[in-house]
Amino acid sequence: MKILIADDDPMQRELLAGFLRKRGHEVFEAADGTSAVQRFEREPIQLALLDHRMPGLTGDEVLARLKAINPLVRAILITAYGAVEMAVRVMKLGADDFLEKPVDLGQLIDKIERLEQDLAVADDVVEVTEALTETPWPIAIIGSSPAMRETLSMARRLADSPWSVLIQGETGTGKELFARLIHQLSPRCAAPFVALNCAAIPDTLFESELFGHEKGAFTGAERAHRGCFERASGGTLFLDEVGELSPALQSKLLRALQEKRINRVGGERDIAVDTRVLAATNRDLRALSTGGEFREDLYFRLKVLDIRLPPLRQRREDIPALVEHFVARDAPRPIQLAPETLDFLMRYDYPGNVRELEHIIQRSLTLARSPVLHPRDLPEEVTRNQGADSGQLRERLDAMERALLVEALEHSDGVQTQAAERLGISERVLRYKMGKYGLQRSDGQSS
Ligand SMILES: Nc1ncnc2c1ncn2[C@@H]1O[C@H](COP(=O)(O)OP(=O)(O)OP(=O)(O)O)[C@@H](O)[C@H]1O
Ligand SMILES: [Mg+2]
Repeated sequence: MKILIADDDPMQRELLAGFLRKRGHEVFEAADGTSAVQRFEREPIQLALLDHRMPGLTGDEVLARLKAINPLVRAILITAYGAVEMAVRVMKLGADDFLEKPVDLGQLIDKIERLEQDLAVADDVVEVTEALTETPWPIAIIGSSPAMRETLSMARRLADSPWSVLIQGETGTGKELFARLIHQLSPRCAAPFVALNCAAIPDTLFESELFGHEKGAFTGAERAHRGCFERASGGTLFLDEVGELSPALQSKLLRALQEKRINRVGGERDIAVDTRVLAATNRDLRALSTGGEFREDLYFRLKVLDIRLPPLRQRREDIPALVEHFVARDAPRPIQLAPETLDFLMRYDYPGNVRELEHIIQRSLTLARSPVLHPRDLPEEVTRNQGADSGQLRERLDAMERALLVEALEHSDGVQTQAAERLGISERVLRYKMGKYGLQRSDGQSS
């Protein structure tokens, strides 16, 4: 640690400096307040040990100046014996601690070690908040749960690369949102983002959607048409529900990815494209490829990089911020949530993930009759399922408790005194619980 000692008494200063240097600290010395401030301006000092009584600037004045230069500096004030009131006043000014003269070296070390631990934690926090605030996300994405933070930082890292990304996750987890985010963060952000849903278009039309067609390629093709691949050239093509592609189209997509060239339907010439493909699926593409329904080589082409979005029920911490986000965005007039309403929303399982939560909020906002959103304004499935949930919890706790009782009784050969002791409960409570769960007494009686 880099430590500054400011004290006008050379003996005291050398004693402390020598002691701290021996313990591996880097120590700077100053004989008065002014030179202490000058030293501080030049060196990245983390901790200042300040004698309170110095000629010129006093310790608390020095402290105020150091804080003005670097508000994160830590300080310990050294005061004359009995000057505790002064110390209290100075701690209000921002000192972390004080020591009375003569300085007890053991105490000093304790205090320094505690500050070092604090600093380590503070460094982390600063780094994390910097990383988060430095570059704001280009689109509104909520997610401060550890799982989402991890996924967001992954998105940031893979955005720069030219490779395909396979985005996997249950329905409504935000796959398309992430595809847009990756595009926005990538060097291609100024070029188009084109989204194509592989499940929504019949096979015959799909090839032309993807690769385009020439005039007269088929009946009705009155003029040439550029497909998504071409339109997204220089930018990003998002293939949603890629697991639904027919085998014929899978081969054509694979070729386009490998050769970076496409062929319009009815076209003679190859057209070079520079399109980055992001693909999404809520099916298990790996299983599909093992089962032969999806080309394995295409699967590996698409998932050079991959992102998995966790279902909302595995990151409930994100629910309040998502609710707030959707309310702020969609409420037609100011509205507040009753605490019980948020409670229900926190506990619901969301099979449709974030999209379902979004719809629930939109629906409830529309139907709410007062400026407060009550549980009765929520869709029935949100409030209904919860009774069942807590019932399940009760059942499972009971089953666990019964199992623990059985185990304890077995271990003590049915001797209740011992079993009760093992469990840390009284014999009376043990007998009550045995009765509740219908457990046999060792003497053969059932209670
Ligand atoms: N982290 C998030 N923050 C804010 N909004 C989100 C977030 N995740 C999802 N949404 C919103 O939820 C809705 C569903 O997201 P999206 O369409 O990206 O999901 P999806 O995984 O593509 O769903 P599907 O599998 O059904 O196609 C969108 O309106 C999106 O804006
Ligand atoms: Mg989608």
